[in-house]
Order: sequence, then structure tokens, then C-alpha cells
Amino acid sequence: MTWAVVAAAGRGTRLGGDIPKQYREVAGAPLIAYALRALLEHPSVEGAVVSIAPGDASWPGWNEFAGKPLLACHGGDTRAESVLAGLAALPSGVRADDFVLVHDAARPNLRGADLDQLLERGRNDPVGAILAAPVHDTLKQAGDDGGIDRTIPRERLWRALTPQLFRRLQLSRALEAARDAGVAVTDEAMAMERQGLRPLLVEGSDDNFKVTTAADLERFEAMVARR
Ligand code: CTP
Ligand code: MG
Repeated sequence: MTWAVVAAAGRGTRLGGDIPKQYREVAGAPLIAYALRALLEHPSVEGAVVSIAPGDASWPGWNEFAGKPLLACHGGDTRAESVLAGLAALPSGVRADDFVLVHDAARPNLRGADLDQLLERGRNDPVGAILAAPVHDTLKQAGDDGGIDRTIPRERLWRALTPQLFRRLQLSRALEAARDAGVAVTDEAMAMERQGLRPLLVEGSDDNFKVTTAADLERFEAMVARR
């Protein structure tokens, strides 16, 4: 059985609005509920720790979800700090070498089949794995003047999604090492890579997107309306 850490301590600056984006409602439920449901409805997921901002007035205070235990802890100033806090708040029954899922509260459209694949393949990898999607567009590197400096071959490029699956202690150590070195890691895999480890890429659906902008929120609203 596997526990999950859900990063929900961000402010959603790029989307704006009165409340952080993870609490914006779509069809009567906040985005975080969609993220939690996708994780906790999976038979292999035992429970989750949600990392919320100190003083967060929008957090509904749930202590269970989909019939499974939900713990809350205070997140930090960066996503990496919030994930570290979540890892520390996992119940003691989660052992140092157990795999843990890390997921964004603002990523509401995770498919059960993708989570299945990640768990299946990641638990058979010595390091762990992440869901990712291949890059389809041609990539350009911009100069300061907005002109194109060069084209970056996309053949081997992937977009890192969540969930990401790593061992509890190894991931905590990797995130602490990055923090101590002053390196801002934007996902768990990056912290692991810095340690010389090689997480596996598991191809997941392109529509497991993170809600970052108003257009993303509209896209998710339209998807839910069609269901
Ligand atoms: N997150 C977190 N703690 C932080 C910052 C982000 O737990 N200090 C979480 C967010 O709540 C979100 C996920 O990490 O679920 C992905 O981060 P991002 O999309 O950057 O969300 P925000 O930081 O909230 O948005 P923005 O960068 O636009 O302010
Ligand atoms: Mg952010």
C-alpha cells in the first residue's frame, strides 16, 4: 500500500482570484477534491497528507476522503518545502524505503489508468518514476530581444507531470540536499537527479494538466461539463 503527499500550499498567483486555485470550484467541487479523488480511489493508495499554507482559510478540514485517511500539515514557501513537510508528516507506518506518491493539488485530471501504470512500473524501478508526456511542439530558445536564438531538438524531451513516485527517505534526503545547496527544484525527479539517480519516465496522458492560468481552468470546466 502506498501513501500520497499532495502539495496544496501555493497561492495561485498566475491564475489570480480571491482564493488559491486549488479551491476554485468546478461543478460544485474544488480542484483539490478532484486531485484527491483520483489518488484515493485507487485501490493501492492507502491515505494522503495534504500540505496547506499556514492560515489557509479555504481548507475544508477534511480528515478522510473516499473512505481513506487524510492528514494535513503546514507547507512552506516553495513547492519543494511543502513536499518535504508532507513527507515528514506521513504516518510512522510508512517506512523509510516505502514508495510515496507526490501530486499537485492543482492537477485535477489524473486518470486511474495512468496512476496504475506509474505504480506498476515505478515500484519495479530501483529509484522510482514520474508520469510524463512527450513534447510535440518545436521548441525555441529566446534571446533577450524576443528573437529566436536556436531550436532545441524535441525528440528526447518530455514534460514532467505528477504524480511522481519515490522512496520516502531517499526523496526527503534529495529535497533537503537541494535546499541546502540553494538549488530550486521544480519537481521531485529533479532533486533525485541531482543525487545521480535516474528516475523512470512513464508516459501518461497529455490531459493530466496542471491548472496554472484562466485558460487551464476553462479547459477543465469544459471537460467536466462534457462528462
Ligand atoms: N505548492 C505548494 N507550496 C508552495 C507552492 C506551490 O504546495 N509553496 C503547490 C501548489 O498548491 C500546487 C502545486 O504546488 O498544487 C504546483 O505549483 P504551482 O502550479 O506553481 O501553484 P502555485 O504556486 O499556487 O501557483 P503560482 O506559481 O501561479 O503562484
Ligand atoms: Mg508556483
